[in-house]
Amino acid sequence: MVHFVIVGILVILMTVLTYFGLDALGLAQQMHPVAASAQAVPIDQLWHWEVMVISFLFALIVVPIIYSLVAFRQKKGELKDGLHIEGNTNLEIAWTVVPLLIVVVFAYLGAYSLGEVRRVDPNAMVINVKGQQFSWTFEYPEYGFITTELYLPVDRQVVLKMESADVIHSFWVPEFRVKQDVVPGRVTEYRITPSLEGSYKVRCAELCGTSHAYMEAPVVVVNSDTYDTWITDQIKIAEESKTPEGQGKLIATKNGCIGCHSADGTAMTGPTWFNLYGSDVKLADGSTVTADDAFIKESILEPTVKVVEGFPPVMPPYALTDEEISNLIAYIKTLK
Ligand code: CUA
Repeated sequence: MVHFVIVGILVILMTVLTYFGLDALGLAQQMHPVAASAQAVPIDQLWHWEVMVISFLFALIVVPIIYSLVAFRQKKGELKDGLHIEGNTNLEIAWTVVPLLIVVVFAYLGAYSLGEVRRVDPNAMVINVKGQQFSWTFEYPEYGFITTELYLPVDRQVVLKMESADVIHSFWVPEFRVKQDVVPGRVTEYRITPSLEGSYKVRCAELCGTSHAYMEAPVVVVNSDTYDTWITDQIKIAEESKTPEGQGKLIATKNGCIGCHSADGTAMTGPTWFNLYGSDVKLADGSTVTADDAFIKESILEPTVKVVEGFPPVMPPYALTDEEISNLIAYIKTLK
């Protein structure tokens, strides 16, 4: 009996130590990325409960093993065989029923949390998301513009209708907790209610090619006034895009070109477009070519024919029409 009391106390002690140890590592109650969505609350809560049970089960296994090793070891001069014990119905019932109850309770909690996370707000705002190697674009169908940053108003549910142009990607904002695959040939939904203003990042969470690690886009959660101002600005930008240069910029955004080519000289996966038109470009084979219409057109349709020095030949070909290409070139010409 005294063994049971000691083991009981040690199990409780070990549970508490394990739990606070995990908490100190940021794995229990306090998760490292802040919770920035309404959906994060039930997910974090469920995780918290699970960590408590995990701490207890860990203690329940480790403590009796270590205690038995020490308390029931073969003592000096002890030469007899150990006690022969066969079966213990009560113990077997206990270790069947208790885990069963725990599993049933967690199945309920899991289903409940899933229901909370998927709760539909009929007034949710729709944004269309397109993932492609290696960029994200966001279309606001209510207003008819496309961006590369996802702006969201705080405390309003949005539903992202997501499509992939090529392979499987995965939409993941750690602060929102929810993650959803983006699958070619299918529209997947991602429902979120941002609850904390701030700047976050969507990261692709499915290995999708050489630049998978760079497939990120800013996610900005703002108050409704800032959001309205941003919408007005975007509408104005969309209006301005009716010229060839503007069309070109739109094509660059829509096709994800700007995920790899900067407009301001910033180093990215591909060569920058800043001061590109008319310049002399050094190629990987050592030759030099002038960045004129023909070179840019070829680089879009057959990107691996003339590879620019210092860049990996990872760009896929883009089947743009002649008109789209000439608009894109008109846009590139403006970047100086
Ligand atoms: Cu897209 Cu990884």
